[in-house]
Amino acid sequence: MLPAEFGPLEALSFLIGFFGPISGALQLAVGSPYGRYASASFGPGLPGKLAWFVQELPCLLVPLYVVTCTPAQRLSLWPNRILLAIFITHYFQRSLIFPFLIRGGKPVPILVFLAAFIFCTVNGYLQSQYLSNYAVYSDNWIKDPRFITGCAMWLIGLVINIYSDHILRNLRKPGETGYKIPRGGLFEYVTAANFSGEIIEWFGYALASWSLEGIVFALFTTFTLSARAKQHHRWYLEKFEDYPKLRKIIIPFLY
Ligand SMILES: NC(=O)c1ccc[n+]([C@@H]2O[C@H](COP(=O)([O-])OP(=O)(O)OC[C@H]3O[C@@H](n4cnc5c(N)ncnc54)[C@H](OP(=O)(O)O)[C@@H]3O)[C@@H](O)[C@H]2O)c1
Repeated sequence: MLPAEFGPLEALSFLIGFFGPISGALQLAVGSPYGRYASASFGPGLPGKLAWFVQELPCLLVPLYVVTCTPAQRLSLWPNRILLAIFITHYFQRSLIFPFLIRGGKPVPILVFLAAFIFCTVNGYLQSQYLSNYAVYSDNWIKDPRFITGCAMWLIGLVINIYSDHILRNLRKPGETGYKIPRGGLFEYVTAANFSGEIIEWFGYALASWSLEGIVFALFTTFTLSARAKQHHRWYLEKFEDYPKLRKIIIPFLY
């Protein structure tokens, strides 16, 4: 039975909740087909910088549209403003900074690009429409431990994600395209430190927003990135004899 207030945003949430495990399972079965695993069977490759810039841009442009072209009456409330600022800050970095720092990144197959573009459009709409026109928080929500802890987790995750991507980037000298063993930061404990940061970020956001919309996004990210992290881990162990044996996949000391 559907919840009493089942509307378009709940439908989109269920859609993302449905496709998260499917995306994770597909990647576990056939691999994550971009970067070092890019495959021609997913279509011709687009230049990496251009693909990342365009595919992530909807997470900035769609919120901009929602904020300027809909009533966005809920943005008079501080919790809604802060949560939308959190989402936009991440995607400002991901679409306008990250792509232009990539060193020797591989082309992105067009089907992967399209999947990411569609996901960013749907999720950009879901999060911004929810926060701008639907989410109702009490005046005290910004003092609630869930909001404070969630915002702190998001910030810690963002720092881990950006710093880890910086470590990966600097493994290559300008013009290089090969791979080396990442060292330093959370990479001392896990293979996919950048993905660990991203997952912490979105669980923090989900906690702070205390919403279906937030948790399905965090779970989608977890399914997608943990499958890719597992593939990276196996790949490093096969490629580098001296790969640190105690390093876990994505959760320090555990997994
Ligand atoms: N929210 C989500 O669902 C989601 C989904 C996907 C990605 N992301 C985020 O997007 C960012 C990039 O993701 P990704 O899958 O491309 O990450 P990745 O596979 O770790 O690669 C990141 C960049 O570092 C390079 N690189 C990786 N390992 C390297 C090594 N050992 N030596 C030298 N260079 C190396 C890659 O080059 P190559 O391209 O040449 O391999 C690529 O340019 C991450 O911050 C991730 O968290 C988020």
